[in-house]
Amino acid sequence: MDDVVRMLEFPQKGDERGHLVIVEGMKDIPFEIKRIFYIYGSDQEVVRGQHANKESKFVLINVSGQSKVKVKDGKGNEAIFSLNRPHTGIYLPQMVWKDMYDFSEDSVLLCLASEHYNAAEYIRDYNEFVKIVNQ
Ligand code: TYD
Repeated sequence: MDDVVRMLEFPQKGDERGHLVIVEGMKDIPFEIKRIFYIYGSDQEVVRGQHANKESKFVLINVSGQSKVKVKDGKGNEAIFSLNRPHTGIYLPQMVWKDMYDFSEDSVLLCLASEHYNAAEYIRDYNEFVKIVNQ
């Protein structure tokens, strides 16, 4: 499939003991996982993200609660995705501008990344992002 932003649904193996959701690199998501981090305790009015990445691909999963992700391609297209089910996530390829917001109080946003952290591959200036994608 094209390397585009899309929602992913993960396999579930829940039983009478509870839910179990599986996310395997290169199987359920289109990269090997090199890094995970998670975001919680963000107030409703907080906007996080606000950057694009030259190298890292991400999958974001609200394992608890909910949030929204607004994605922009820098060419005039944008879309908003609701993350509100622990067995679904959003896939974000490189060079996508993303804002995460509308965090519920119980939101725990799990982020899986294809690369180790490298501040140099983050674009944090929207105008610079637009310039790069349109050149
Ligand atoms: P930031 O990129 O602002 O988080 P978000 O995009 O989710 O709003 O990161 C906050 C701080 O944490 C910033 O100083 C960079 C640091 N950080 C790391 O050191 N490693 C990581 O993997 C991430 C995601 C952030």
